[in-house]
Amino acid sequence: MTDAAGTHQRFTEYYGHAPVGVWSAPGRVNLIGEHTDYNDGFVFPFAIAERTWVALGDRHDRVVRVATSFAPDAVEIHLDDLAPHAVDGWAAYPLGVTWALGRFGADLAHVRGVDLYITSDVPVGAGLSSSAALESAVALALDEHWGLGLDRPTLAKVGQLAENEVVGAPTGILDQSATLLSEPDAAVFLDCRSLDAEVIPLRFAAEGLTLVVIDTKVEHAHATGGYAARRASCEAGATALGVPALRDLRVEDLDRAQAVLDDETFRRVRHVVTEDRRVLDTVRTLREHGPGAIGSLLDASHASMRDDFEITVPEIDLAVETARAAGAIGARMTGGGFGGSAIALVADDRVDEVTSAVRAAFAEHGFGAPVIFTEQPSAGARRDA
Ligand code: GLA
Repeated sequence: MTDAAGTHQRFTEYYGHAPVGVWSAPGRVNLIGEHTDYNDGFVFPFAIAERTWVALGDRHDRVVRVATSFAPDAVEIHLDDLAPHAVDGWAAYPLGVTWALGRFGADLAHVRGVDLYITSDVPVGAGLSSSAALESAVALALDEHWGLGLDRPTLAKVGQLAENEVVGAPTGILDQSATLLSEPDAAVFLDCRSLDAEVIPLRFAAEGLTLVVIDTKVEHAHATGGYAARRASCEAGATALGVPALRDLRVEDLDRAQAVLDDETFRRVRHVVTEDRRVLDTVRTLREHGPGAIGSLLDASHASMRDDFEITVPEIDLAVETARAAGAIGARMTGGGFGGSAIALVADDRVDEVTSAVRAAFAEHGFGAPVIFTEQPSAGARRDA
């Protein structure tokens, strides 16, 4: 069983002594604001119920050892040997975070080693940030255990640095912020330039709405091509238009952008600029009219990712179109793209209809069966035991 008590028990069985504590961090759904984070823009994610747990035990030497229920072998390294290319595979996440803490002021020369045991029920490769859940759980555990006193926005940067420099994926700050800053029944409105964050109630359940996740099982990996290519286009667009980041453009600037940029770069830029506006509109609409009114913004975000940013795949487009046709009030891909999951906001009494319609459409198109489940916006990273 994956939970804090189960993780405590597995640690004890594996290492032969009890851990000093158990910490956890959730996966995330990004409600809206895709590929805006590394353009200094706005995002609006929330934590999901599935989490990654880390049990931590003290050691008397300076070795960090990590074991997990999802890989057969433990990996260990001396704290003096930590470096970006010292580890690979799954251990690059926890050990990359350990290294990155040193880059954010932790005095790793004067701490003792630790034993870690990791469990998780966050789906991997589904666009739900299993990597950030792992990074944030480890970052919070080590920060508290070593008494580093880093605040959560800094721990988010630690996870991002590990992902960028150790795992090798050029991702932004969205996922780690979501997993560290979320609160139940709410989403995090984050300005990725200032890192100012505001937790805003979502009230899906109170308004009779259910958030449905459709995991297409088409696996993505952001350490490979497409993600980095999109990021490069955005940077090229900002440079050509003479702004520090695409965040500095308004929808009203798009005519000028079209005159200056080639068609493909223009469409990449248009996605980011309009997506920033949609995030702001979503937050305002939610506040003024409630979650039942945000559907068209979710739909517009999807169309922009499909047509301008070109990061969707046929399975994702089918999931979104079918969910909409079966009565969802809005639907879009969530996460970095090239596979992963779609989300649909659905009135409680239409969930079964939407679910069966999507399953039927996948079968009809000869696509592999999707995994469909519902999510409640949940608590962020925390100490559990
Ligand atoms: C991935 C990255 C995030 C963000 C999204 C797209 O999840 O990890 O930093 O760029 O893609 O919004």
